[in-house]
Amino acid sequence: MRGRFITLEGGEGAGKSSNLEHIHQHLSAAGKSVIRTREPGGTPLGEQLRALLLDRSQGAMADDTELLLMFAARAQHLAELINPALARGEWVLCDRFTDATYAYQGGGRGIEPERIRLLEQWVQRELRPDLTLLLDLPVEQGLQRAGARSDPDRFEQEQAEFFQRVRAAYHERAGQEPERFRIIDASRPLAEVQAQIDQVLDTYLAGMN
Ligand code: TMP
Repeated sequence: MRGRFITLEGGEGAGKSSNLEHIHQHLSAAGKSVIRTREPGGTPLGEQLRALLLDRSQGAMADDTELLLMFAARAQHLAELINPALARGEWVLCDRFTDATYAYQGGGRGIEPERIRLLEQWVQRELRPDLTLLLDLPVEQGLQRAGARSDPDRFEQEQAEFFQRVRAAYHERAGQEPERFRIIDASRPLAEVQAQIDQVLDTYLAGMN
């Protein structure tokens, strides 16, 4: 049987790393064979594209270049890792996927969603995540948690207004596909956030039987 494709999304300071680990452990404990990966990245070529995308010295990168590099990394990720793993029956847990493109390149940079949809269709064909957890919290709280980074990457150096647009775009996505998205209130202390995640995963796993 084909595996499931689970994605985790969220803005700055949402606690994605620790919660990704928690989700991985939860699914493994439920007997699933889980591959954990991330975007942009996940393959040797994708990680090189990630380095370019996050490099602050690429100050003059055009919005369309950024968009196409995200999808170039994604095409490689799908061909080399995600599609083969799902076909083998493994579960893939991905730190960000195309919802991040709608949020950052769409909401943040202002690229029309229709153009993103064309690339999504081209690169992914029929593949979409089976379940997406959105770690949501107010932008100010997230930026406070993330703290003043000494060496911010090309996205982290954006202003609060950029992240407000990113958050609004994530909410719009979640509203359009309520059966796929689960919004987690990430403003709560970590133990409470993880309890919300446990409930979402248990309900999802129970629904599969
Ligand atoms: P990370 O902070 O989760 O490691 O992700 C790296 C950055 O890449 C983050 O600032 C969000 C950004 N990003 C996009 O702008 N578009 C995308 O499609 C993806 C996957 C990430």
